[in-house]
Amino acid sequence: MSNTIVPQKDWWKENAAGTPKMITEAPGPKSRVMHASTTRYMKGLSGQVKLFPVCFEEGFGITLTDVDGNKYLDFSSGIYVTSLGHCHPKISEAISFWAKKLMNAHDFTTPVKEKLMEKMAGILPEKLNAIQLYSDGTAAVEAAIRAARAITNKHEFISAYRDFHGKTMGAVSCAQMYRGETHSYGPTRAAGFYMVPRPDPYRPLWTKTDGTIDTDAYIRFYETFLLEGTVGNVAAFVLEPAQGWAGSIFPPDDFFPKLRNLCDKHKILLYDDEVLAGMGRTGEWLTLNHWGVIPDIVTFGKSFGNGFPVTAMVVSEENGNALEKISASSSYGGNPMACAAALASLEVIEEEDILQNVRTVGDFFMKRMLKMKESHPIVGDVKGKGFLLGIELVKDKKTKEPFDEAGKLVYQKAFRKGLAWIPAGHILRMSPPLIMDEKYAKMGMDMIEDAITEVEKEFGYR
Ligand SMILES: Cc1ncc(COP(=O)(O)O)c(C=O)c1O
Repeated sequence: MSNTIVPQKDWWKENAAGTPKMITEAPGPKSRVMHASTTRYMKGLSGQVKLFPVCFEEGFGITLTDVDGNKYLDFSSGIYVTSLGHCHPKISEAISFWAKKLMNAHDFTTPVKEKLMEKMAGILPEKLNAIQLYSDGTAAVEAAIRAARAITNKHEFISAYRDFHGKTMGAVSCAQMYRGETHSYGPTRAAGFYMVPRPDPYRPLWTKTDGTIDTDAYIRFYETFLLEGTVGNVAAFVLEPAQGWAGSIFPPDDFFPKLRNLCDKHKILLYDDEVLAGMGRTGEWLTLNHWGVIPDIVTFGKSFGNGFPVTAMVVSEENGNALEKISASSSYGGNPMACAAALASLEVIEEEDILQNVRTVGDFFMKRMLKMKESHPIVGDVKGKGFLLGIELVKDKKTKEPFDEAGKLVYQKAFRKGLAWIPAGHILRMSPPLIMDEKYAKMGMDMIEDAITEVEKEFGYR
């Protein structure tokens, strides 16, 4: 029906040969002109685009080509989105099949939706099988918040410092945006939404006597906070399994199992927002699988349709009737093209053994980053699992003072060498396409390490 193409596992390799190929200074002359004319009208661009105003024209597999003909190695998958490679033949074919046959049928059942539901039920933990589909991550998060209220008849939510969940009112109330900045348009968090610290092993608030992070202290604090800081009406903890935007920050292994116990004890839902970290990016379908924890609510997005806007909100079967209470459907959610993109993406993850590739090449990434930590004076910490990675730059390894200026320079220098990526301030975030092999993983890391060395020289560290 949707899957007429069965591509070779190495479908992207011929295109990748000879990458990076920089034929002009980057951003090149055409990029600069197009960016300038676009931004006469288009406002509100991200910091990364402002720092490197390149104009892309084409993407295939693990490469991106700009309008000047420069070809870059992709180390960000768009923005954690095109995780199975740009324009994957099977996925593009599946979308175009339905683009020519049936583009929208409200939330009526379609053959491709039926197949997607079966596929998802087979992949998700058994108890998570009440599903609704949306067209961006934020809409799925908003629906999850409403579902949590409908399930529990409670209205408060607890999220964590530096979590990110989207930019509409409910989602932004669970997110830490505008860190340390003052904005004149008022508070961004709705009533009943709270933030607590979550454990960051490199920057712990509470440590044990041996100096390692004390997860129990965080859990004890949450228990106190429930009593003292809320009105006893907490519907859910809303957390990313690993903090993507904040810089690929993973909690200690005992955090989510202990939080699950706390939630069970207080009859609070655990809502796991896997929009960024789910669907294979860390080597498991759900990042929470690493710790054997099953959430009550989960959201997927980004990689789910490999570039086609399709997202999902899933609750456990026993809570499925809550979705009847919140008028859960939307105009575009679950349209046939979206279902086809998601179904084909899930099939590709299985057919191309993507989870195994992420684990194997992910080990290579981690070993390489650990070596960089030893040999570079400004690399304070390295972190990640699978293909969700971060290198934290500091001015001094003892004080751990963030080195934002270095982060910006490393970003621009590596981009000029031919690496398309999206670091975050002093943390160099990396999220390469999950199809990438060790050869290109090494190539990207070489470009980053060369850029770090150059920046260290400029700042007098070498
Ligand atoms: C964890 C998480 N949740 C939700 C969102 C919002 O998704 P979208 O940008 O598709 O609305 C994001 C986006 O980065 C995210 O990282």
